[in-house]
Amino acid sequence: MDIEQANEQLERLRLEASGEAGKGKVASYIPELAKEDPHQLGISVCLSDGTILSAGEAQKPFTLQSISKIFSLIVALCQNGQQHVFERVGKEPTGDPFNSIIKLETIKPHKPLNPMINAGAIAVAGMIQGKSVQERLDCILDLLRRITGNPHIGVNEAVYCSEKKTAARNRALAWFLKDSGVLAGDVEETLDLYFRHCAIEVTAEEVARLGMALAADGVDVRTGDRVFPAEVARICKTFMVTCGMYNASGEFAIDVGIPAKSGVAGGIMATVPQRMGIGVFGPALDEKGNSVAGVKLLALLAKDWELGIF
Ligand code: DON
Repeated sequence: MDIEQANEQLERLRLEASGEAGKGKVASYIPELAKEDPHQLGISVCLSDGTILSAGEAQKPFTLQSISKIFSLIVALCQNGQQHVFERVGKEPTGDPFNSIIKLETIKPHKPLNPMINAGAIAVAGMIQGKSVQERLDCILDLLRRITGNPHIGVNEAVYCSEKKTAARNRALAWFLKDSGVLAGDVEETLDLYFRHCAIEVTAEEVARLGMALAADGVDVRTGDRVFPAEVARICKTFMVTCGMYNASGEFAIDVGIPAKSGVAGGIMATVPQRMGIGVFGPALDEKGNSVAGVKLLALLAKDWELGIF
């Protein structure tokens, strides 16, 4: 692939997709996120030899939000094994919004349907081991720093505090999980870990590298090191297809056809098995919490470069 030509193609598609941003709104239930300019749009692609292609705001830091749920799941699976994890969180899509509480009570046993919705990710955070919240967070940060090669990846304190102050719904989910026996440890500590890992700050380029590690079945293509087992990568990619875009996952699978995970700061991590990782940043969201311009850009790119896996 000619890099200059590929970068030009990315810029052309980015410009085409950027018009969609006007149809969305930045997240405001975490007040700090409402400060973003909704018209930004950046994309990075990491190829299987580590080459990076980029266009637009690919170096602009943003918080992972729900994209971090993939990496907390990787850590929880590596530390506890599949049996322990899936006794406490299910493997089924919900068809409900990411912060919905309704099925927690109506489904028996009372465990979250999957680890991508907030309730499921809070349950996963509860399984991450360590002597303190910081030690548990470091397990996730170490993995992200290793794959991206950026030792400075950390938490955006303003976004973390903003979510912590306003997270009545997530607190309700967590205390319900405590009551059902899904959360074993200290609820406020687990919530603190969850808010912190959601507020980890990255760029689209770093997200592309993270997506490539999944595409390479757990191998960091920069160093050739295995960073997590292939079986764990397989589980994560499957969740990305079935639940990664929440109650728009079916539509996304039809229209784009790439395993992907979104976050309310406007990020999307996509992973094309064996071929590439893609990071997108566009903070204007649709009503389901996915980046409007980001989804459009991935649809255009998937069509142009024939990336769909189905
Ligand atoms: O818990 C929350 O609501 C946020 N920290 C993360 C939600 C999120 O990113 C949903 N994604 N589209």
